[in-house]
Amino acid sequence: MKLLAFAASSSSKSINKNLATYAASLVSGATVEILDINDYEMPLFSQDKEEVLGQPDAAKAFYAKLGQADAIIISFAEHNGSYTAAYKNLFDWTSRIDQKLFQNKPMVLLATSPGPGGANTVLTAATGSAPYFAGDVKASLSVPSFYDNFDNEKQEISNLAILDQLKSAIAQLG
Ligand SMILES: Cc1cc2nc3c(=O)[nH]c(=O)nc-3n(C[C@H](O)[C@H](O)[C@H](O)COP(=O)(O)O)c2cc1C
Repeated sequence: MKLLAFAASSSSKSINKNLATYAASLVSGATVEILDINDYEMPLFSQDKEEVLGQPDAAKAFYAKLGQADAIIISFAEHNGSYTAAYKNLFDWTSRIDQKLFQNKPMVLLATSPGPGGANTVLTAATGSAPYFAGDVKASLSVPSFYDNFDNEKQEISNLAILDQLKSAIAQLG
């Protein structure tokens, strides 16, 4: 199985990237690619810029990456209750190539934050809207209070109850 995993964050120290990477490591037998959305940076989307730029190569490349995967794990960072601007920009540009950008791929959606809310607001939005974008969400999980529940040295979930939930979610990918 070709598994694509990434954080919907442009932070070089992204805790969601840590979580997505760890979650991907739990999928036995998968060939894992960890994508960095910074490699797909584009101007701030507007219809005016779209008239000038058309479909940027970065959006085409991201769309192709999604298409080549057998399964996808995304971990969402939450900024002010919503997507990070970096992810939303990539999402908007790519949705103009194909509104069904997730291409019916089985997905596990995750989210985490340092606070007790665990970025659950953005996760709920992403999960609820995924069907409109042909995302086949098999499971979703918010990890609250990241630094209490993830061992940064070992790069693994330290809370056994959350680890169980994560393993159950990942198992849904088949
Ligand atoms: C502009 C901004 C807004 C934020 N808003 C939220 C929020 O609404 N909910 C939340 O749980 N954390 C919020 N945070 C804290 C982030 O969860 C935290 O920075 C986290 O590390 C982001 O994930 P990342 O490291 O994967 O980028 C915010 C951080 C920033 C910089």
